[in-house]
Amino acid sequence: MDRFKIEGGRRLEGTVKISGAKNAALPAMAAALLTSEPVRLENIPHVRDIITMAKLLAHMRCRVESPDIPPSAFVLQAETVSHAEAPYELVKTMRASVLTLGPLVARFGYARVSLPGGCAIGARPIDLHIQALEKLGAQISVEHGYVEAKAKRLRGTTFRFPKITVTGTENILTAAVLAEGETVLENAALEPEVTDLAELLIKMGAKIEGAGTSTIRVQGVERLHGATHTVIPDRIEAGTFLIAGAITGGELLLTHCEPQHIGAIIDKLKECGVDIRCEGKSALRVRAAKKLVAADVTTEEYPGFATDMQAQFMALATQAQGVSHIRETIFENRYLHASEMMRMGAHITIDGNLAVVTGPTPLSGAPVTASDLRASAGLVLAALVADNTTWIDRVYHIDRGYERIEEKLCAVGARIERVSEST
Ligand code: EPZ
Repeated sequence: MDRFKIEGGRRLEGTVKISGAKNAALPAMAAALLTSEPVRLENIPHVRDIITMAKLLAHMRCRVESPDIPPSAFVLQAETVSHAEAPYELVKTMRASVLTLGPLVARFGYARVSLPGGCAIGARPIDLHIQALEKLGAQISVEHGYVEAKAKRLRGTTFRFPKITVTGTENILTAAVLAEGETVLENAALEPEVTDLAELLIKMGAKIEGAGTSTIRVQGVERLHGATHTVIPDRIEAGTFLIAGAITGGELLLTHCEPQHIGAIIDKLKECGVDIRCEGKSALRVRAAKKLVAADVTTEEYPGFATDMQAQFMALATQAQGVSHIRETIFENRYLHASEMMRMGAHITIDGNLAVVTGPTPLSGAPVTASDLRASAGLVLAALVADNTTWIDRVYHIDRGYERIEEKLCAVGARIERVSEST
């Protein structure tokens, strides 16, 4: 298992190229199951979850170019699928495997997908994915830890999500495109990754209106065809690097990003005193605050402040003057990074879903453990300002969703070394 050795206290300066969005690439890859023709995807980040999805599709006998090391553009072709199954071994390492459920049952009339189970940030059930598929006419049984879905052909319906769910919306959208008749999804997720998926599906011949709003209308078609699609930039990676610039007293230019997707993050950082400016359509310049001040944050569905930026914001709050109240409303257990930051000297109290951070506190390097993807990013940011050396264990979490983060940070002046167990 790899660890990061981080020497803190260095000001970051330079240019960082933002990668494609993992959470847009994953549903796009699953959508390739909807057609026998080739789907070419571009701007795919080279991260562990993408490799897992590629392996899953290869397991289903979908043709995947270099499934072990996908390059940033690759072609998927699901001419035939002989195993319409997502096995436990793959689903347990990546919950997003569940995104294959909708496309498989829609095109092949059968899918068997392992139930993902809980994870470090909460219980994360998929009951709403199942309810919506049942409403589309699928017969579903949950047995032996697997969801089995069968349908001759799905039938269009109206389904109102009782709670907004991102992968739930994506899963049902990719099922509805091949259903008979019209499907209306109400209280759908507005996340840019949903809109990006809809754009790919439309290129494949789907009839979709309203993606990016809370009501999505789909006119089912008999079949879809191949397409080429470039996935959107990763808004969470961009937000993480904005904080990296701000927390280290530095100045970074982020290129290949989509500023419109991170309005809530930019607004919050500005409230803290950070100077952020757009340079053209797809670049952002961040300059550290003269004085970083505390701010309150509540995580919300898009376009609100993303839960996937909460840990990184907490790292920043430890360096801000005053008291920041952070309220996590999406996942029930997403504060595991807080106790690790406290071990580095942060003043944080947790009461239910409220974290109160009092700053600024000097952080001191310590051995810490990453518990999930974004928690790891929060710890890396804290380590960048801590004195001496911080060792972060279990960085495989960060490898799931950040492309070469240590290389990108080192290129702008950070001192991070990846240390393998064997070295
Ligand atoms: C997506 O997860 C993202 N994953 C997550 O990113 C992100 O944190 C999350 O959306 C929220 O923005 C991908 O896109 C692959 P949800 P998802 O369904 O879709 C509850 C990262 O670090 N819920 O929108 O699984 C659920 O428990 C990851 O990149 C149900 O109760 O999240 C949660 O409380 C982590 N029943 C809330 O809804 C359901 O059937 C929102 O979850 C589905 C969800």
